[in-house]
Amino acid sequence: MTSAFHKLNLETPIIQAPMAGGATSVELVAAVSNFGALGSFAAALLSPEAIKLAINEIRSQTRAPFCVNLFVLDSPTVDDETLATANQRLAPFREELGLPSIEAPKRWCQDNQAQIEALIDAAPAVVSFAFGIPSPSHLAAFRHNGSVIIGTATNLLEARAWEDAGADAICLQGYEAGGHRGTFIGDYEASQLGIEALLKTVSDSVNTPVIAAGGIMTGTRIKQLIEQGAVACQLGTAFLTCQESGIHQAYKTRLLTSVPDETRMTRVFSGKPARGLVNQFMQRLQQTETDVPEYPIQNALTTTLRSKAAELNNIDYMSLWAGTNAYQTRDTDAYSLLRTLSEEMNR
Ligand SMILES: Cc1cc2nc3c(=O)[nH]c(=O)nc-3n(C[C@H](O)[C@H](O)[C@H](O)COP(=O)(O)O)c2cc1C
Repeated sequence: MTSAFHKLNLETPIIQAPMAGGATSVELVAAVSNFGALGSFAAALLSPEAIKLAINEIRSQTRAPFCVNLFVLDSPTVDDETLATANQRLAPFREELGLPSIEAPKRWCQDNQAQIEALIDAAPAVVSFAFGIPSPSHLAAFRHNGSVIIGTATNLLEARAWEDAGADAICLQGYEAGGHRGTFIGDYEASQLGIEALLKTVSDSVNTPVIAAGGIMTGTRIKQLIEQGAVACQLGTAFLTCQESGIHQAYKTRLLTSVPDETRMTRVFSGKPARGLVNQFMQRLQQTETDVPEYPIQNALTTTLRSKAAELNNIDYMSLWAGTNAYQTRDTDAYSLLRTLSEEMNR
């Protein structure tokens, strides 16, 4: 049976990953979808109103299908003692940047249920989710409105859960991947397979089409993973250095000048393990990283610190999310990158 994912009829089996924090600009998503690949807009950090606005803007720039991505989160809670200790640990960094020593955010994150409901209403051609699975009634509403559903899995149990929930495709996030690990079932430490091993493990026992993600930077690699059973490949880091990407110029330059083995997993920025280029903030807090409050608490506590660092062009205290193969990034634009990847695939 042809799956809803196949019915999208992508001319190029490449998905530009959703990347929260500003990378996936309207221009980037539209350029990728206009090429015949699938652009993804990261909506996780935006209000329901901002999500609807961005979707309208993308629609004004492309008639092709595009994806919009959200996290799935429980309501956050934190006790006063954990909060005080976390603030204390961050105070020296804040003082160094000229910020008040205590951070007291108005809220820990956007209202996740309201974000999901806004996305159901906006009904983009494709929706994708990380960190969890929306409720059956929300999934039914997406389906009713015609959105193709992609789930993210970092292990077999999550892939099975997404298959049971009726996902149209499952994006497998290998350990090479830049940004947050999406693990939400089972042990994070036990969910560290590289993309090839994860693809093999999941394809052996799941029938839903699978998408490969993690460290994919070349058309040759895309071709290999498609030959190993992926219906498409999702690339994040490769798109970060495109002209249309909304990341800070200093972060782009750092990626373009990176060398192999410069990334590691860290919890210090957000409370959830994520892969990025090693910098001072990661190194100085490494000893205490298992003690930081969970996502999204730590994320909210470091938000102004990271913004101030960006304002000051200070990459020592910005999160520099990147996959293991960041050193293969190219100084380019989305169209040229996709054309090169396609040529490499067809060699
Ligand atoms: C800067 C950055 C932000 C990311 N934000 C998201 C996000 O908002 N939602 C999501 O599902 N995945 C997110 N990811 C993970 C990607 O979907 C994907 O798994 C990853 O980019 C693949 O590895 P690669 O970066 O080596 O290509 C992010 C990745 C990066 C690099």
